[in-house]
Amino acid sequence: MNPSQGYFDRVAARWDRMRESFFSEAVRERALAVAGVRPGRVAADIGAGTGFMAEGLLLRGLRVIAIDPSAAMRDQLARKFAGTEGLELREGTAEALPLPDASVDYAFANMCLHHVEHPPRAIREMARILRPGGVLVVTDLDEHRFEFLRTEHHDRWLGFRREEVARWFREAGLVDVRVECAGEDCCARACSGDAYARVSIFLASGRKPGPGAGGRDAI
Ligand SMILES: C[S@@+](CC[C@H](N)C(=O)[O-])C[C@H]1O[C@@H](n2cnc3c(N)ncnc32)[C@H](O)[C@@H]1O
Repeated sequence: MNPSQGYFDRVAARWDRMRESFFSEAVRERALAVAGVRPGRVAADIGAGTGFMAEGLLLRGLRVIAIDPSAAMRDQLARKFAGTEGLELREGTAEALPLPDASVDYAFANMCLHHVEHPPRAIREMARILRPGGVLVVTDLDEHRFEFLRTEHHDRWLGFRREEVARWFREAGLVDVRVECAGEDCCARACSGDAYARVSIFLASGRKPGPGAGGRDAI
């Protein structure tokens, strides 16, 4: 079983409220703008949870494949978007995506990377499923020292250094790699109440070489 799966199975019904207290829709809007998403294209939402990214993509007329290892998170997502066309759910992890090579125009992973066991492998997988010209956008936490996020929220990694993320993108064969500020902090209070984390969020993007989904240059 994925190490954080039990945690996400337990909090799934509360996740939307928790998420709102951690960060806002501004992160999603920035990620979608940087990717230059276009209606009718196909996007993978990796570590989709209850569908934070998927919702923004569906509203813009994309078809979405939402992937998550937690059955309870997928159930919440399925309930929330029942009857919505263009959404498909799959069980899977970022390190072994249940999708063929070159099958999507965009891949998004919001607040998923710090839960995966092997981040560079996950980024290689995300790059693998992109069609030529496709865009990967990862939004996650900058490196921090808040240990309670590991013990209370089951974070595997205490954020990442931006230059390291950029290197993983390039090693995965992506070009036009940029890692910038997402313009928002992730905030959380420890259960004990005596620690409060405010961690900046980075937005990493890269394109698979070749013609295709594009749209990114128009930004
Ligand atoms: C912090 S939540 C973010 C959910 C959603 N992306 C959002 O922004 O609200 C992390 C999600 O990643 C999923 N997850 C944990 N380990 C994963 C892995 N190895 N691969 C893909 N997803 C994973 C969890 O089940 C959970 O739904």
